[in-house]
Amino acid sequence: MVNFNYCAPTRLIFGKNVVEQLPEVMNQFGRRILLTYGGGSIKRSGLYDKVKSLLKDKEIFELSGIAPNPKYNPSVLDGVRMCKEHQIDVILAVGGGSVLDCSKAIAAGAKYDGEPWDLITYKVKTQAALPIVDIITMAATGSEFDAGGVISRTETNDKVAYIDDHLWPVVSFIDPTYTFTVPKIQTVAGVADAINHIMEQYFSSPGNELSDGFCEAGFKTLMRNVRIVLENPEDYEARANIFLACTYSCNDIYSLGIAPSGWPMHAIEHALSAYYDITHGIGLAIITPRWMQHVLSEKTVERFAKFGVNVLGIDKNLPAMEIAQKSIDGMYQFYESIGIPMHLREVGIDESRVREMAHHIAVNEGLDKAWAPLNEDDIAAIITASL
Ligand code: NZQ
Ligand code: ZN
Repeated sequence: MVNFNYCAPTRLIFGKNVVEQLPEVMNQFGRRILLTYGGGSIKRSGLYDKVKSLLKDKEIFELSGIAPNPKYNPSVLDGVRMCKEHQIDVILAVGGGSVLDCSKAIAAGAKYDGEPWDLITYKVKTQAALPIVDIITMAATGSEFDAGGVISRTETNDKVAYIDDHLWPVVSFIDPTYTFTVPKIQTVAGVADAINHIMEQYFSSPGNELSDGFCEAGFKTLMRNVRIVLENPEDYEARANIFLACTYSCNDIYSLGIAPSGWPMHAIEHALSAYYDITHGIGLAIITPRWMQHVLSEKTVERFAKFGVNVLGIDKNLPAMEIAQKSIDGMYQFYESIGIPMHLREVGIDESRVREMAHHIAVNEGLDKAWAPLNEDDIAAIITASL
């Protein structure tokens, strides 16, 4: 088991109707609130009206229209400007991971005098951030329980993961009933994202008995329950299990004591969604079997085989290489069976910018140091195989 130094300071308030506790939570942070949200799902669901009525004694300023793959310009910059102009005390993010990620960058930018991009790119170390409370409405990223946000800067094709301890939400409200309205394609994208988060932690070595088992439970929970909610979107227990598995997925709790992997599939997908603005979880599902195939070797086979036996139920008496190959094929079939388009061409990506993206990833992501190291040619081969 490798050493670790771990603290996850977010309070999680989980379950049906927990939002009723919002006023007492917000009272701790002051009167002036920046309410951030996306393109309108919270208005259609009634959550917006609910929040406004719960907080009617507060002064609320609103930043709306935060897009999936949230943009530095205008959303982060507008939010920072509003926080400074209105002396905001606390940010309340209501929506999916994109709204929350954007709010994290705003929270740090609000406490910094220079260009917020300096913080996002670690040119300047983040020293402080406004407190962030969220009501998360998508089961996917785990942003409600981690210290990261992912911000896109369109003009430079950058999509940057910004991680800093100041970005942990102070409180996250998680009510699985809010996910009843999530469209099918976003539901499966969210599940694919969380599966991939766990893979990025599990496909590394050495593992350890407890964390490996926790990861395997996470995979199985997500893969089993997604089928239930595709049949019945309002199955509370299934939605709740998916949400919890997602909430844990990005803050290393699944993998305490497992060596870091370098998160190669995320590094590749972030470039795809920076260049083509595709849905993160869909991009990950497409890349996953191609990455596994590309890195399958004597070094990686044992982890892939363990996954195949313990998660997919493949016969443990088969040779390890055969189990690993069946695992790769099994993941492809699983994603296809839940309705994910499994070729990049189907989401509008062709070969024209593969080399450019591979170069961008190789220069910026340090994948030559990953558990299964990748150079620029490897990255281009994985993207090409995904077309
Ligand atoms: O904008 P609105 O109208 O709210 O609609 C959203 C959006 O169109 C909709 N939606 C959200 N909750 C809903 C709902 N529709 C109906 N009912 C609800 N309850 O779903 C669409 C997608 O929302 P988005 O927030 O973009 O999805 P997600 O939560 O998957 O977030 C994706 C972003 O998070 C980043 C991704 O790269 C991407 O930019 N990630 C963040 C991570 C983190 N902070 O730790 C880690 C991840 O690996 C990931 O990179
Ligand atoms: Zn992800």
